[in-house]
Amino acid sequence: MTGAARGLGEAIAARLAADGGGVVLVDSSPEVTATADRIAAASQSAGPVTGLRADVSDEAACAAAVEQGARLLGGLDLLVCNAGIGGPDTDVVDTDLAEFRRVIDVNLVGTFLTARAGARLMVEQGTGGSIVNLGSIFGQQGVPGGAGYCASKAGVALLTHSLALELAPYGIRVNAIAPGNMATQMHWDELRSRARATGTSLEDQIDLARASIPLRRHGTGDDIAGAVAWLASADSSYVTGQMIGVNGGLILGT
Ligand SMILES: NC(=O)c1ccc[n+]([C@@H]2O[C@H](COP(=O)([O-])OP(=O)(O)OC[C@H]3O[C@@H](n4cnc5c(N)ncnc54)[C@H](O)[C@@H]3O)[C@@H](O)[C@H]2O)c1
Repeated sequence: MTGAARGLGEAIAARLAADGGGVVLVDSSPEVTATADRIAAASQSAGPVTGLRADVSDEAACAAAVEQGARLLGGLDLLVCNAGIGGPDTDVVDTDLAEFRRVIDVNLVGTFLTARAGARLMVEQGTGGSIVNLGSIFGQQGVPGGAGYCASKAGVALLTHSLALELAPYGIRVNAIAPGNMATQMHWDELRSRARATGTSLEDQIDLARASIPLRRHGTGDDIAGAVAWLASADSSYVTGQMIGVNGGLILGT
């Protein structure tokens, strides 16, 4: 799974290991090794729990990491494409091309490269599988100042749809999870940027964000990990091509 050094990815990896599976954590951050070691020590997983460093937007590095991960695990039955970045938090008229390209490169191209490498291996194995992509509520609706991120995640939504149709004949299910406002560094960074832009405090922005969520709390890594565990299990064996919102009702409006 990718983007696993911290945040939602770390929580997903910890859940999969706690459920007894081997997990390979792939991340561009050097922290990934320490995260894997921490999870391995806490989980007593039957399989290997290992960290690999790779940038998912680098075609060769991404393919090599997926292949090495599958080798370490003795096969690939679940692939979670979670690596992502936020920003640029600017209106389109003020957005720099390089910043727009970077968010598309990591969030959309990175998901394409990871899913392509994993799908090729799963098709070759011939034993089916499950691919889970991380979309976002901001891939389901646009927001001012978020065009690059929203476009990248909307791309992940239809990439998921097309892949599900292409891979269904091989028994490979492809779904996406669309988190809402989750308590991770990425979300706090976004709120910090909003606070700066509006001359308010981070605490004000956290309160505003929480008040907009019908369930009145930020989501956690465990909320996402539970959905991934379900999509990895036989309980979801008739589910493919779906975008599953895990957002405390935020998509409904208030
Ligand atoms: N936090 C939220 O509110 C929220 C909401 C909707 C969707 N998401 C999505 O969930 C996923 C995880 O988000 P998070 O909140 O845990 O973010 P995070 O910033 O806490 O963690 C992201 C991880 O991805 C890694 N990463 C970034 N670029 C990478 C690259 N090019 N190659 C490999 N690894 C890379 C980072 O090093 C980090 O470990 C992302 O795809 C994000 O867009 C998050």
